[in-house]
Amino acid sequence: MKKGKMIVTPWEVKGDLDYNKLIRNFGVHPLKKLPGIFEKNVLFRRGIVFAHRDVQRILEAVSKKEKFAMMTGLMPSGKFHFGHMLVAEQIILYQKLGAKVYVAVADVESYNSRGQSLEDSRKIAKEEYIKNYIALGLKPKNCEIYFQSDRSKDGEKAGAYYRLQNLLARHATFNEFKGVYGDMSPGKMVSSLLQASDMLHSQMKEFGGSDKGIPVVVPVGIDQDPHLRIARDLGRRIKTQEFIPLSSTYHKFIPGLSGGKMSSSEENSYIALTDKPEEVKKKINKYAFSGGRKTLDEHKKHGGNPDVDVSYQYLNAFFEPNDKKLNEIYKDYKSGKMTTGELKKYTIEKINAFLKKHQARMKKITEKEISKYVK
Ligand code: TRP
Repeated sequence: MKKGKMIVTPWEVKGDLDYNKLIRNFGVHPLKKLPGIFEKNVLFRRGIVFAHRDVQRILEAVSKKEKFAMMTGLMPSGKFHFGHMLVAEQIILYQKLGAKVYVAVADVESYNSRGQSLEDSRKIAKEEYIKNYIALGLKPKNCEIYFQSDRSKDGEKAGAYYRLQNLLARHATFNEFKGVYGDMSPGKMVSSLLQASDMLHSQMKEFGGSDKGIPVVVPVGIDQDPHLRIARDLGRRIKTQEFIPLSSTYHKFIPGLSGGKMSSSEENSYIALTDKPEEVKKKINKYAFSGGRKTLDEHKKHGGNPDVDVSYQYLNAFFEPNDKKLNEIYKDYKSGKMTTGELKKYTIEKINAFLKKHQARMKKITEKEISKYVK
């Protein structure tokens, strides 16, 4: 791919990502400085969550202590890595802010678009995703994690969710669907409608919403915005009930070890939250793209580039919450005072210290605990 070119769609992300350009292309809004509680969160403070639609409505609900929900979804595949942790941290933040939390395990979508069995999806969702969410601090209260293929044991709730999916169909067009999946098949169409129902259904009475709807925020990667546009448009067109337009926030991608998107189908692109200390050390030392110079002499003389350095990006997003310390690292690496070896060593220590505690928490989580989250 040519330098300066990028592709960002729900099914493909590559090239040199220019987030300002993405804001313009998708027609979303840059996220300005948010009030206190958000500013305390590294992801918001450092602009990793960088854009939004209608986030004002959520800020209002938070400040007036009004009812609101947070909803997001996942396609369960492979190991739970840093990219997934980015979403988990936002889910947990919204739960702390008082949101009712909904997470859809997109097992129908995985079946229809990737051929993954429902059993595999269920197993991966529980053992990788939910377990890690719990260890990261998600609480069972005000939280529903559900499978698209099995919304609820409660017939009224399940009925409302699948009814909405089916009624939305009347208001969608073929071209809109093509816009979210590139090509179209009946299976992808079904998944797209189901996803719209995922995003909207928590506003209905059956789920503690109302006839007029309640505010819902959907945090996702910027590549998922086309899904949101569809759900917002369908929510506006349908007449069976009023829906409040969905709010959404968009995060940047956590780079994979050698740049690009972190992907669970590429072993050497990710660090999983179950990786052992030796693996982390090896992956960072061997694969993490470095902003350093070719030789130590050159580095000392001209300095490195923290903005493209993958270890630095991990510290920035997760592992160095202290702004002053991060700033020092930035300056020292840029001036050449800090070498790539030193930066990597520091990052490895930080990651491994976090993983040690995290994995100890993971060990204690039982099947019974997991079942408290799955409705
Ligand atoms: N399509 C999303 C993905 O590819 C998964 C998903 C399903 C989702 N339902 C959702 C995301 C609702 C956000 C909200 O990962």
